[in-house]
Amino acid sequence: MTDSRLPDDDGDELDTDAAEARSRPAEIAPAELSADELRRALGRFVTGVTIVTCRDGGSGEPVGLTANSFNALSLDPPLVLWSLRKASGSIDAFANASHFAVNVLAEDQVDLSRRFARPSSARFAAGAWSDGQGGAPVLAGCVAVFECRRHSHHDAGDHLLFIGQVERIGGSAEAPLVYHAGHYRAIGEQL
Ligand SMILES: Cc1cc2nc3c(=O)[nH]c(=O)nc-3n(C[C@H](O)[C@H](O)[C@H](O)COP(=O)(O)O)c2cc1C
Repeated sequence: MTDSRLPDDDGDELDTDAAEARSRPAEIAPAELSADELRRALGRFVTGVTIVTCRDGGSGEPVGLTANSFNALSLDPPLVLWSLRKASGSIDAFANASHFAVNVLAEDQVDLSRRFARPSSARFAAGAWSDGQGGAPVLAGCVAVFECRRHSHHDAGDHLLFIGQVERIGGSAEAPLVYHAGHYRAIGEQL
């Protein structure tokens, strides 16, 4: 049987885990993580850009914001996810809505993305859209639209994680909008 405790330089015993950790290359320990470093590192992960929408159950107004936390989750059943900052002005609307729509933006929709990322009461004033499932706005000219029934939402740090069951798929445009390191881009060449 292997002894899981090893002597260190002073002859004291040491956990194998601790000895292994000492021989690993330097990593940033959780206590040293700065918010800026984390944001910069996360920003190196290339994403598309979406506008997630719902209908406010109280006022009946359309609600939406720019989000790149969208991701695929399950094919069977068809589930997708995204997360919303708890401090968002849209949090109550999404937490109570039966449905949301994830509108995946095309490369010619940068202005729309900027508008839905800024504080504004007139996000839906310009641009064509129609009512989707549960009244969640479906924007025209997107590369894909996932109309979802809210499956569940989960507390996750300073965000709420939303999981949706896809009920309808749309979209017609070809070229997606890309986001990387704080900048919008068009998709590059196929390798
Ligand atoms: C490219 C991009 C992606 C974003 N992704 C998210 C996201 O996934 N979740 C989120 O809560 N905010 C995200 N934001 C920030 C919101 O769009 C922004 O805070 C917006 O004003 C929130 O809407 P509210 O004013 O209704 O709270 C993103 C912004 C940009 C520009």
